Amino acid sequence: MAVGERDPFTGHMTTGHEWNGIKELNTPVPKVVYFFLIAFTLFGIVWSVLMPSFPYGSGYFKGWLGVDQKNTVNKRLEEGVSDRAAWTARIEKEDFAAIKADPDLMAVVRETGHTLFGDNCAACHGIGGAGNTGFPNIAAAPMLWGDEPETIAETIRVGINGASPDTRVSEMLAFGRDGVIERPAILQLVTYVRSLSGLEERTEANAAAIDAGAELFKANCVSCHGDDAKGKKDMGAPDLTDHFWIYGSGPDTIYHTVFNGRKGQMPSWGLRLSPVSIKILALYVDDLRAQHAAAGGGS
Ligand code: HEC
Ligand code: HEC
Repeated sequence: MAVGERDPFTGHMTTGHEWNGIKELNTPVPKVVYFFLIAFTLFGIVWSVLMPSFPYGSGYFKGWLGVDQKNTVNKRLEEGVSDRAAWTARIEKEDFAAIKADPDLMAVVRETGHTLFGDNCAACHGIGGAGNTGFPNIAAAPMLWGDEPETIAETIRVGINGASPDTRVSEMLAFGRDGVIERPAILQLVTYVRSLSGLEERTEANAAAIDAGAELFKANCVSCHGDDAKGKKDMGAPDLTDHFWIYGSGPDTIYHTVFNGRKGQMPSWGLRLSPVSIKILALYVDDLRAQHAAAGGGS
């Protein structure tokens, strides 16, 4: 065994051990490693004494601080339930305007409403309420029955052509199928209806059809859709002059609507959801509409 010597490359002493020409450097473990080793050991001991730690037989050492996750969870749950009861009670008794003016309550409405909407409404109206063919865009389109939050709540509660005895009732008549209007006249109506929202430009070729359609409209349609075709809220009849369509604006679709009629069905949610859930949903829909309008409207 040779005596330690200085290694010419690293400047460290060697231990004097040598294996097949390889010499071991004498580099002791750095002090900082000892420091952490001791610090962590001490921390481990203190922590095991303060917190629940060693198991024995049927139980475990509970620790001097008496911390218990089960208690913590139970306490949080209790707090959650009492918070919930408190805000539910407020939403139940305050009127719509007061709730809308209260940012804390609206935060609850947005959170709870989002879940309620996702669970009950999104299947038909889409996650953001933008609708689908046959299901109106309730985030942006003018409401058939009125857009005050109180009215929206009532619509949700009773439904449209729903199962509740109070349901709102509406129906677009089957003018063609019932033989009220003949096929060529329906085609004129289609051209006229499309011209109302600018989908059909008036040209020499269609001017006669539009004028004839206008007469037919006056005779058959204004009782529900209004003299100006902007819809009637007491009939649940849609505005035909805007760019929102429940069923579609193509000539074939409008022809189908006028020939066969339509009777959209919206479930009567009062039969399934609590009054406070319906109130939250109405405020949620109202809020979706406000956000949509603030973002610049459009479909
Ligand atoms: C089974 C499909 C379906 C589900 C689920 C559904 N709706 Fe509807 N909803 C409709 C249809 C269809 C209409 C339009 C009825 C019509 O054309 O007259 C409608 C219309 C509406 C309107 C518009 C009323 C108006 O005045 O224009 C609102 C608001 C509404 N729904 C809210 C909801 C809410 C909130 C939920 C969830 C609790 C929900 N809907 C779930 C089918 C549905
Ligand atoms: C008895 C009332 C009533 C009369 C009369 C009536 N409508 Fe309607 N119309 C409605 C209702 C209600 C709806 C909505 C149906 C639904 O949402 O399911 C509707 C929907 C429509 C739609 C579909 C709009 C969309 O967004 O997809 C068109 C188009 C339409 N009507 C055209 C006409 C024309 C044209 C006439 C006259 C020939 C007419 N309606 C007469 C009540 C009526």
